[in-house]
Amino acid sequence: MAGSVADQVEVPFQAVPGLPEATVHGHRGRILFGSLSDVPAIFLDGRLHAYEGHRVQEIVKPMRLLARLGIETVILTNAAGAVDPSLEVGDIVLIEDQINFTFRSALSGPFGKGEDRFLDMSLPFDQEIQKVVCCAARRIGVPLRRGTYAGMLGPSFETAAEVRMLAHMNADVVGMSTVSEVVSARAAGLRVGALSLVTNKATGLSPAALSHEDALALGTDTADRMLRLLSEVLSDLSDLTAVKPRD
Ligand code: HPA
Repeated sequence: MAGSVADQVEVPFQAVPGLPEATVHGHRGRILFGSLSDVPAIFLDGRLHAYEGHRVQEIVKPMRLLARLGIETVILTNAAGAVDPSLEVGDIVLIEDQINFTFRSALSGPFGKGEDRFLDMSLPFDQEIQKVVCCAARRIGVPLRRGTYAGMLGPSFETAAEVRMLAHMNADVVGMSTVSEVVSARAAGLRVGALSLVTNKATGLSPAALSHEDALALGTDTADRMLRLLSEVLSDLSDLTAVKPRD
């Protein structure tokens, strides 16, 4: 996606005071100012994870930064393992709800001015964005599934027993990110949408051993589907905000 951003101005994470460098392969750790399908947007190319040793308050700094820059809507993406056995590698899942299994809260400790500490989480993912994503996917013929995302601390993959537990808890996909960013973004008043790209079946659901390289090695047609969907969503969201001023 980063390669498709027009008129790029790049700011590495470490050039922003207080923002740590991204250390995970596949995560460039830079902020791109630019546009996609003629819609101006800010792109976070890479993210920070708790398993890199960062405190959760560090991980969510990019969300707070976006809010401070005046951004109102954020779409999060991630790579995830399929807990629902009917999900296949390459499927795109619209996240409808989440389970925070990192046992850390982005809202613990000091909180920002205007942020809501006792945050209501009954609807963490914006319903209007979900509608936009579903309509866009249907319009451009990209199959879309829906589900609940379980966020684990990582970086080891889950055991088969943990995956069975997650299935009992009605999780559909599992990953090592996103949940803290969602909490922080909501607390900062951002509207949030999120998409998982299934890079593997979770442990115990396929005989193959899991590796980080699997997540990086997805085919170009999968990347292309995700890019087409995100471009469409971006342009639909910009139409919506253009005709309907937010209060
Ligand atoms: N588990 C946790 N995180 C992941 C997975 C997984 O199976 N696949 C991609 N990220």
